[in-house]
Amino acid sequence: MSEQQKQARLTQIKRQWEQRRAITRSLGRIKTKIGVYSAKGGVGKTTVAVNLAAYLAKRGHSVGLLDADIDTPNAPQVMGGDARPAMNDGRITPADTFGVKIVSMSFFQQKSDEAIIMRGPMIHNSINQFLQMTDWGDLDYLVVDMPPGTSDSPLTIMQVLTMDGFIVVTTPQSLAALDAKRSINMIRKMNVEVLGIVENYTGDVFGSGAGPGLAEELDLPFLGFIALRPDYRDSSRPTVLASADVEAEYDAIWAAVEPRLAELEAAAEEPAEGTPEAAP
Ligand SMILES: Nc1ncnc2c1ncn2[C@@H]1O[C@H](COP(=O)(O)OP(=O)(O)OP(=O)(O)O)[C@@H](O)[C@H]1O
Ligand SMILES: [Mg+2]
Repeated sequence: MSEQQKQARLTQIKRQWEQRRAITRSLGRIKTKIGVYSAKGGVGKTTVAVNLAAYLAKRGHSVGLLDADIDTPNAPQVMGGDARPAMNDGRITPADTFGVKIVSMSFFQQKSDEAIIMRGPMIHNSINQFLQMTDWGDLDYLVVDMPPGTSDSPLTIMQVLTMDGFIVVTTPQSLAALDAKRSINMIRKMNVEVLGIVENYTGDVFGSGAGPGLAEELDLPFLGFIALRPDYRDSSRPTVLASADVEAEYDAIWAAVEPRLAELEAAAEEPAEGTPEAAP
């Protein structure tokens, strides 16, 4: 390696280290990060992420929602409202919508129907930059709406943002279970916890059952059913704030997620086996 190459490599390492430090600083004030994921598209990830965030905000928590779907970002549209983030000195202050601080790549698109085309290193850079620039402040929960798939985009987000756990969304048909299994294997490969499985679109049209079946097979908690409802057509606000029935579904989901998060937190704090206890 020439002297010049060595210098370039050093500069690159320094830049990466500074970037990591800035991200750690920015994310350090967030108590719990929850990803909503499925390898399969269209199962309702964004809908679940938006409604979970709005539900937690309604319960008095400080909540952020990161739309990490950088190819087709749409969480602000699903959330409703027209708040925009503020940009100051290259820093992003998230928009506050229904008590949820929201950041999405869609805010930075010139035209909402423009296609965002990115390859590997660009994906990595834009996610890093996004995370570095955003001032979330103190948050109890950051809900992360993940992009579908098992390649570059979700992989990068899982690497950069250490999630406390993932909620995996599946649909009621047994065919969907295979995709959900892929999703769970992807999360496990990244050494992140799966909080449990949610079944979306439950009801007369698609039936019911894939979620609990899969949870049992994989020895994971089943977190709850979300029914297919026409209420979701109203995009002026999160459906959980408009329908008591939907709110009851999120009550059930949260009643399963909260103790699981506490369990994981306790396990993380416990000294590993064989580690001597600290002296009093
Ligand atoms: N329980 C439900 N009842 C009725 N419609 C729903 C329900 N859940 C989601 N939808 C609708 O289904 C569509 C797809 O949902 P959503 O965008 O949340 O899926 P996604 O998994 O995030 O998709 P992508 O993989 O493209 O990001 C949306 O129009 C949404 O309003
Ligand atoms: Mg989505």
